[in-house]
Amino acid sequence: MENLLYFEELDSTQTYLKQRINQFNHGTIVCAERQTAGRGRYDRKWISNPGGLYFSVLLKPVKTNFLSNLTQLMALSVCQALEDLNISPSLKWPNDVQVNGQKICGILSEAVFSDSSNAAVILGVGINISQEGLEKIDQPATSLKEQGAQTDKRVLLCKVLNYFWKDYDNLLIRGFEMIRPEYLRRFATLGKQISVRNGTQTTVGIAEDVSPRGTLLLRTETLLKEIYIGDVII
Ligand code: BTN
Repeated sequence: MENLLYFEELDSTQTYLKQRINQFNHGTIVCAERQTAGRGRYDRKWISNPGGLYFSVLLKPVKTNFLSNLTQLMALSVCQALEDLNISPSLKWPNDVQVNGQKICGILSEAVFSDSSNAAVILGVGINISQEGLEKIDQPATSLKEQGAQTDKRVLLCKVLNYFWKDYDNLLIRGFEMIRPEYLRRFATLGKQISVRNGTQTTVGIAEDVSPRGTLLLRTETLLKEIYIGDVII
């Protein structure tokens, strides 16, 4: 991988790339052995001791229609790479990867727009590999080691990225629809009662489907609500 920058320690691979968007090309990957200020969704911290795989990818997409689905493609790519290790992951909408109901991977997506048609997206991925007794942040956490699997971090990184690039161009053209069957196959929340939190608002309902746009369709007591963004609590 000629476009990989590797660090023993960074504050955050995500912050590093975000501050240098114009300096690097599309497809640049920044990976760190540990992060001192790893960031998660909703301003949560992402504990990044050695033992996890922490990386961010800089994307400069040629089309901007389906940017919000890139995290779902990355989550699916992580699932596919873990399945190669005989792990059976599932997806918690929109982009958490779980094993046996515990979070093994989180993805943070940040978009920076220079004008209406030019965007850069940074996708940050944290996968728990050999940590044990992980602290619960938004949900219980686990690692590959706790699930009885082991891998070389670099091999796992290559696998995830291969799955991701394989479908990247097509996703930008066709959107979530092209990965929907594979996403739904791993969507463990289907038919379950869940709460979706967005800021101070919480909506309770049954997870009925994920739409062809990648949004969550939640059946509440009164209506079928389309959820574009939120944190799912099972
Ligand atoms: C989440 O589930 O809240 C998203 C976690 C994303 C963590 C990764 S680790 C690599 C990259 N650098 C960061 O600071 N965060 C992301």
